[in-house]
Amino acid sequence: MVMLPLPQSTDLLSCPLVAQAEGSFWLPPRASTVASSVDTAFYFVFWVAAFFFLLIVTLLVVFVVRYRRRPGGVPEPSPSSNTRLEILWSGVPLGLVIVMFALGFASYVDMRFVPADAYEIRVDAQKWKWTFRYSNGYEDDNLHVPVDEPVLLIMSSRDVIHSLFVPAFRLKQDLVPGRYTRMWFRATDPGEYDLECAEYCGTSHSDMVAKVVVHPQGEFDSWLRKSQEKVQNLPPLELGRRLFGSRGCAVCHALDGVTVKVGPNLKGLFGKTARFADGTTATVNEEYLRESIVNPSAKIVEGFRDQMPTFQGQLSAKQIDALVEYVKSLK
Ligand code: CUA
Repeated sequence: MVMLPLPQSTDLLSCPLVAQAEGSFWLPPRASTVASSVDTAFYFVFWVAAFFFLLIVTLLVVFVVRYRRRPGGVPEPSPSSNTRLEILWSGVPLGLVIVMFALGFASYVDMRFVPADAYEIRVDAQKWKWTFRYSNGYEDDNLHVPVDEPVLLIMSSRDVIHSLFVPAFRLKQDLVPGRYTRMWFRATDPGEYDLECAEYCGTSHSDMVAKVVVHPQGEFDSWLRKSQEKVQNLPPLELGRRLFGSRGCAVCHALDGVTVKVGPNLKGLFGKTARFADGTTATVNEEYLRESIVNPSAKIVEGFRDQMPTFQGQLSAKQIDALVEYVKSLK
């Protein structure tokens, strides 16, 4: 598969007056069908604000200088009212906010009404990892989508509120535990785009990033089929290594024998004796590792907090096996 280079998003020389597909000083490139209407609303609000800021500050300075108190000056009473002026300064802002509402509402409606034929992808967020699940059961830690087709994300969170944000698509939606939220889009250009968590969700919130990979016409289905086959045929150790990265283990567990992240370092752990916060100990064997994955709160290693989410029901027996095999191999 050919990846197109990511368009430059910080071109200082490009004119900021008009929304540009390749991005500008103000905004990243646009890569979804709603992006241009979001940009239009943004630029409208921005330039209205800029215009009135300059107008008001300029008049303020001019009036301060021109009507300052001078020696011998006699103050005049101010006029009590000026109906034409009052209609003007009420009518103009009213017109402007109506335009802002219309622009915003039009793109909001576009974003809320999902085309019936949208391709569905499930999104799971958890501290601090995205998982994208496809109809054939395949899971990926990056979001792969076809170009020019409506895609619907059905999203939920395992723990706290996260927010899925794709700047190039101009889309952002919260993921809330115990509830499904949805977001749809139609990507307009093949390539790779940043996907971020935009809701502070704890220690490694800023590491909760992934990519959106927009596949060119006709390549998405073959990508999905091949990815699924590849995972099914992996040897346990290799599957474990992949899951360790893709299911977020690596966010909290370092493997170098030195670094201590949110959870214990896992290098050389197998066969050792683990000490727990309640004073008990246990030998690190297959059963201990399995329990730590499906019921992490059962035994809390001394010096750590009960922070790990359970993977009960999220990993198959084969996947748990593979992870145990992988941790075992970290000598
Ligand atoms: Cu998830 Cu911030």
